[in-house]
Amino acid sequence: MKKIQISPSILSADFSKLGEDIKRLEESGADMIHVDVMDGHFVPNLTIGPPVIKSLRKYTKLPFDVHLMIDPVHKYIKDYIDAGADIITFHPEATNNVFETINLIRLLKRKVGISLNPNTDIHAAKEHLDKIDLILIMSVYPGFGGQKFIKEVIQKIKDLDQIRKDKKLNFKIEIDGGIDFETSKIAIDAGVDILVSGTTVFKENNGDLKKNIETLKKI
Ligand code: DX5
Ligand code: ZN
Repeated sequence: MKKIQISPSILSADFSKLGEDIKRLEESGADMIHVDVMDGHFVPNLTIGPPVIKSLRKYTKLPFDVHLMIDPVHKYIKDYIDAGADIITFHPEATNNVFETINLIRLLKRKVGISLNPNTDIHAAKEHLDKIDLILIMSVYPGFGGQKFIKEVIQKIKDLDQIRKDKKLNFKIEIDGGIDFETSKIAIDAGVDILVSGTTVFKENNGDLKKNIETLKKI
């Protein structure tokens, strides 16, 4: 049976005590920490940047799974890596040259992911699948937590899982947006390896992080 990993999104945490919340996530069985970086331009919301990530680094040894929703993205990659990102995921629409951005992240020895919005076809990533560590399927339009899961993206996951098998590739499939105790199952069945979750992890069961992470992991 394959192992499902959980990457809780700190977008749903208490921003006045992010360090503490990250520590609690580690103690509750999170596998990595999903950090949503928004620029108020690529997406209609604004969150945090490198200085905050840097100051959070000391609170956990878990990998920082940094989801960059910023345009242009390329010139900021190094700043996020210097701040402590272990995985950098970007959207292909936000760079002039996807190859160069992948290469830069590789050169700086971090894991690289490409993210596909609900209306972005897998063609945008197809030629890069042998060079990336993960593909992040957006199951909501990025910008805000607490949105409804868009079930149409399931077919994309199935297609990617098939390509991965056919070509014997190793990239992981991560899903982000509207993941709850039901949609998680649908996503896992389709081939997902990593679940991002903000609202469900932080708000269900009166905010019992451990219980929520354990329940999401159950196949
Ligand atoms: C959306 C973000 C997500 C979001 C997920 O733009 O990329 O990571 O925080 O939150 P929930 O789990 O509430 O949909
Ligand atoms: Zn995200």
